[in-house]
Amino acid sequence: MSDNRERAAERTRLLREEIVYHETKYYRDNDPQISDSEFDHLVKELEGLEAKYPDLITPDSPTQRVGEQPHEGFASVGHRTPMLSLDNCYSPEELRDFEERIRKLIPEEDLEYVLELKIDGLGISVIYREGSLAQAVTRGDGVRGDDVTSNVRTIKSLPLSIDLTGEVEVRGEIFLPLPSFQALNREREANGEPMFANQRNAAAGSIRMLDSQVVAARKLDAFLYTLFIDGAEAESQWESLQKLHDLGFKTNLRSRLCRNLEEVTDLYHSLSEERDDLEYDVDGVVIKVNAADQQRRLGQTSKFPRWAISLKFPARQATTRINDILIQVGRTGALTPVATLEPVKLSGITISRSTLHNEDEIRRKDIRIGDTVLIERSGDVIPRVVSVMKDKRSGKEKAFVFPTACPVCGTKTFRPESEAVARCVNPSCPAVVRESILHFASRRAMNIEGLGEALVDQLLDSGQVHEIPDLYHLEPAGLEQLERMGLKSSQNLLDEIEKSRHNNLSRLIYALGIRYVGERTAQILAGHFRSMDALARAAREELEEIDDVGPKVGESVAFFFREPRNRALLDQLRAAGLNFAVREAQGTGEEPLQGKTFVLTGVLQSMPREQAKARIESLGGKVTLSVSSKTDYLVAGSDPGSKLRKAQELGIALLSEEEFLELISD
Ligand code: IVH
Repeated sequence: MSDNRERAAERTRLLREEIVYHETKYYRDNDPQISDSEFDHLVKELEGLEAKYPDLITPDSPTQRVGEQPHEGFASVGHRTPMLSLDNCYSPEELRDFEERIRKLIPEEDLEYVLELKIDGLGISVIYREGSLAQAVTRGDGVRGDDVTSNVRTIKSLPLSIDLTGEVEVRGEIFLPLPSFQALNREREANGEPMFANQRNAAAGSIRMLDSQVVAARKLDAFLYTLFIDGAEAESQWESLQKLHDLGFKTNLRSRLCRNLEEVTDLYHSLSEERDDLEYDVDGVVIKVNAADQQRRLGQTSKFPRWAISLKFPARQATTRINDILIQVGRTGALTPVATLEPVKLSGITISRSTLHNEDEIRRKDIRIGDTVLIERSGDVIPRVVSVMKDKRSGKEKAFVFPTACPVCGTKTFRPESEAVARCVNPSCPAVVRESILHFASRRAMNIEGLGEALVDQLLDSGQVHEIPDLYHLEPAGLEQLERMGLKSSQNLLDEIEKSRHNNLSRLIYALGIRYVGERTAQILAGHFRSMDALARAAREELEEIDDVGPKVGESVAFFFREPRNRALLDQLRAAGLNFAVREAQGTGEEPLQGKTFVLTGVLQSMPREQAKARIESLGGKVTLSVSSKTDYLVAGSDPGSKLRKAQELGIALLSEEEFLELISD
């Protein structure tokens, strides 16, 4: 027995070491060394041993990231030394003033700078005692912050133990990566909850949640940039960054040691261009005098160090006027208020519309027609109204009365008490029908090229189409009567429609527009049920048992197929000859992108990055964040960042968005 225990003790030690190594490679370096399932096996084995021998569990075991939660909210804790803030400047010229000030204080010395990105996240201090993560405290007011240790432990790129005794303090920035942020907001939108305005708010909201299990699911991340070992700093900032990395922390790899301000300025400009390519929000760069000895002699004011400054990127905010508020009726009947704006330029794009989300949002922010408002773009999110500038009001602004009837068909709207969204419940509402057809034909659904807004409107107006199945009975004679539709374009459209009959099952499932069923869920459902009929028969319980299909999706899918209207729709589509099953060639388990590693860069027009990633993965491929010699393809959207240069240097195959779409199409 004790022999067994000893063997288990040795094995848990080895497993922990191996898991921590792979966690660092995966979460910190974006460079996985083994497959997810191999990794899961290691974790499962460790969990098994720990369940059998609970006394072998250590607080820094990788299985112990989610633990007990303090019951009384978060305790307030004082920082060892104040967490200072940074002086700001807004142009390279102002940066010269910063250097001038330094030269006056320490004349005739060589100056080197470390340039880092200024991460728009949440300042954090993490303390390790005798190698174990002991406490994590938010920046708070700089003097005291909240003890958020249990939530910070869920950050997978942050080591629970390090190879250093004594007391070690690291400081840095917590953030929520863009894909997690987008997924979180989509979920909140679907649930009718208010969306987070930007990644920082989402990170701040997440780190202050009481249930660390929920925090763990949000996938927060952290960059570290300050290191104290028993209260002392390294000889230089550059050395601190190297040491942090060597200890297993995630440091931002875009940081550079610069010999003069010219190098700093050049780098500032190139990082400013890369900004939209990053998975975290940055609002500028931080320039730090490198030598610790010079830092000490320069000292600090009451608020910020004299040896560091932040140089901000141009704002993504602007002020403009709300000319009107319109109501859009979506495919699900949801009524969304949209502000039409006095056109304004925001980081290179002219903005003339902004979503106002829902009725509550308008009320909460007291948005009125004629108001001057501050708008903001963040990530690839549609611009939103941050706040109303109430001191600019003239008194002529008009409050917006949210309609109680659908503005398109006049049916009384319905808003369940638990939801923020009012809906038109008339399934024949022309707006709902129009949007459903557009969704059905869209690129990621049935991909019927040419069937855009203008044509759908004409088909509806001329009475050739009343509902989706009518698309499959269009005649050339009818089409040719439409504006800008000659013989050739009619034939092209009919060919496209014909082609769509043979689409994959997953496309058809997605095209039906079932609530909560996105592209990825459609692929999962198609893979699991293999035919529309099997899916339509599935009970809610059966659906919920599938990995990645939660109760919300299960209920929604079961509800959809119970509806007699939807059953009739499916009968008509079947009669029109659409493919209702996974074709056997797809069923052989052959995955066309098996073993291929992709990196995505730049902005894709046809789908968000996360979707591209899901698509690649569903075809057996893998997506990593950084280009290395193991990368097979770099997919370059518009505005590609430094990854493109790196891939070219390494001679990696480059795919344009079009080539990529071709590769992943059926
Ligand atoms: S250094 C004494 N470096 O920006 C120097 N701060 O506006 C203290 N921040 O409170 C900070 N990225 O939370 C530093 N690379 C970076 C940073 C950074 C983001 C935050 C930090 C700080 C705030 C000041």
